Amino acid sequence: MTADHALIAGSEVEAGTEEPPRRSIFRIKPLGHGRHAYRTGEGVAKLALLDPFGGGWTLGSRLARGLRYSARLMSSQVSPPALRCRGLEKRFGSITALTGLDLEVPRGVVFALLGPNGAGKTTTVRLVLGQLHPDRGRIEVLGGTPSDPLVRRRVGLAPQGIALYGELSARENLCLFGRLAGCRGRPLAARIEALLARVGLAERADEPVRAFSGGMQRRLNLAAALVHEPELVVLDEPTAGVDPQSREAIFGLIRELAAEGRTVLFSTHYLEEAERLADRVAIIDHGRLVACDAVAALIERFGGAPRLVVETEAGSATYEADRPLELLNAIASRATIRRFRLEPPRLDQVFLRLTGHAFRD
Ligand SMILES: Nc1ncnc2c1ncn2[C@@H]1O[C@H](COP(=O)(O)OP(=O)(O)OP(=O)(O)O)[C@@H](O)[C@H]1O
Ligand SMILES: [Mg+2]
Repeated sequence: MTADHALIAGSEVEAGTEEPPRRSIFRIKPLGHGRHAYRTGEGVAKLALLDPFGGGWTLGSRLARGLRYSARLMSSQVSPPALRCRGLEKRFGSITALTGLDLEVPRGVVFALLGPNGAGKTTTVRLVLGQLHPDRGRIEVLGGTPSDPLVRRRVGLAPQGIALYGELSARENLCLFGRLAGCRGRPLAARIEALLARVGLAERADEPVRAFSGGMQRRLNLAAALVHEPELVVLDEPTAGVDPQSREAIFGLIRELAAEGRTVLFSTHYLEEAERLADRVAIIDHGRLVACDAVAALIERFGGAPRLVVETEAGSATYEADRPLELLNAIASRATIRRFRLEPPRLDQVFLRLTGHAFRD
């Protein structure tokens, strides 16, 4: 496979139209939202808009800002990761929110960002969205710069604080967010209807959002992040304050997004969510990455011994036990065991071991 054949996303298409970038066109590659990169015989990468109904393509001179971006994409054999941070630093006055943060989120994974209050999760999310700029270090989103409008349209955010227009209905909110992301017409309308049904709000779609319960607003907040079908979905505490039913619905949606090949980056304080959903987990503390791996690998490395809970007539006691059978025998020799259970180490033990017990904020 040559660089010319490198697949960026979706299917590769032979350029069959006559639009002349002077020399021959080798390939066009879908970049989402109808934009395609192509390469001229001189090896110059440009962006073009392809009419999906076969009407050929128009050169996007206004897309000149994307030239360098597409050139970089095309020079690589494989897609760049969804997110790559190197030595990120962000200060707010005297507060250092991030310091030397290194993070890499591969494409197509569900990635959980964990950390105590004030660890820097939301700051990281805002940098990914281009809402903040780092004081130092590099951040690359889908191979480009977060503030690049072409990149931003490929990313969807459900922020930690609900970001909806209370006076507008659920449908109007989704329509507004879709239009802001450049979507129009029937495809947008169809997506809105599908999303409203998916988050269980089809029957309340025309009511003003200010009358919605917290869980309904949270689900709509999530739908608003998805209306433009982003490649990278960023969810900052998507299940904060919702009931178990809404939580399961949100989990289901995250799994569907992953099955569609999208990358999901979410932050949470519910470690059991990360255990259930995430392919990879990053734990950050004091603005720095302290561990990053699959859940099982983190537990294996940092989880410590299993916990043995033993109940005797004297009461219940918990032990960290490398050799639980020996410990049980020792206890049985001096007391009558009524009940016992062995709990394998969990992610919460890893988290507390790596981030300590002190309050952070
Ligand atoms: N706009 C801001 N102005 C001043 N300080 C800020 C600002 N945004 C974040 N901070 C500070 O940066 C640090 C990291 O905050 P951030 O919101 O990223 O943490 P977090 O991990 O999302 O926490 P939480 O779990 O509580 O949401 C905190 O000390 C916070 O007070
Ligand atoms: Mg936060």
